[in-house]
Amino acid sequence: MSHGNCPYPNLQIFDHPLIQHKLTWMRDRNTGYRAFRALLSQIAGLMVYEVTRSFQTVPVEVETPMMPTVGRRLSSIITIVPILRAGLGMSEGVLELMPEARVGHLGMARDEVSLEPKAYLNKLPRDLDAGPVILVDPMLATGGSASAAVSMLRKAGAHDLRMICLVASPEGVQRLLEADPEVRIYTAALDDRLDERGYILPGLGDAGDRLYGTA
Ligand code: PRP
Ligand code: URA
Repeated sequence: MSHGNCPYPNLQIFDHPLIQHKLTWMRDRNTGYRAFRALLSQIAGLMVYEVTRSFQTVPVEVETPMMPTVGRRLSSIITIVPILRAGLGMSEGVLELMPEARVGHLGMARDEVSLEPKAYLNKLPRDLDAGPVILVDPMLATGGSASAAVSMLRKAGAHDLRMICLVASPEGVQRLLEADPEVRIYTAALDDRLDERGYILPGLGDAGDRLYGTA
């Protein structure tokens, strides 16, 4: 994992060979939804392993079959927040590694003309300040959806807030960090730019449609 040549503060690009290998399959237009879904979940699991590296642990006593000893457990409750729909495909992979995490949901759809997000669901735990919050959405394009989601999470009390995406655009990263300079962003790729319809180039197309076979 590396910060290698990263032009933005708070942005970490994952250059791990396994992640890059799987991402390339996801970019391929011939990859169908079954494989796309599995790959997204696997990449999310690999990314969260590194994203959680700085999480606090506390010592706990445990009795092994041989004798008592002291181990460590995560000290606070973790909340995963997927942005619907496509974020759901990542939260599954994250939950495989952290089944004890809570899940909040934010439903957001981007208007095809204005490209601005419209929120249609907000279902979050009440005490969002109880521990780290991980926002997940594979695409950070104009940054409108992520900026709105981060603002909703801050209003709901999130302090330690991180976002995991798969493919980010420079425009999206810039907009999100201008809106919230404290949020940490993790991505598998920082692509070239957006097209006139707000799609990431080279990107991987419409993540939600590819994930659920609704193209
Ligand atoms: C996609 C994607 C992000 C958003 C990114 O969702 O999953 O949420 O677009 O674009 P932005 O950075 O320009 O806001 P979409 O609105 O297409 O909904 P879907 O996941 O239900 O397909
Ligand atoms: N949403 C997607 O699913 N893909 C893009 O490239 C941009 C927004």
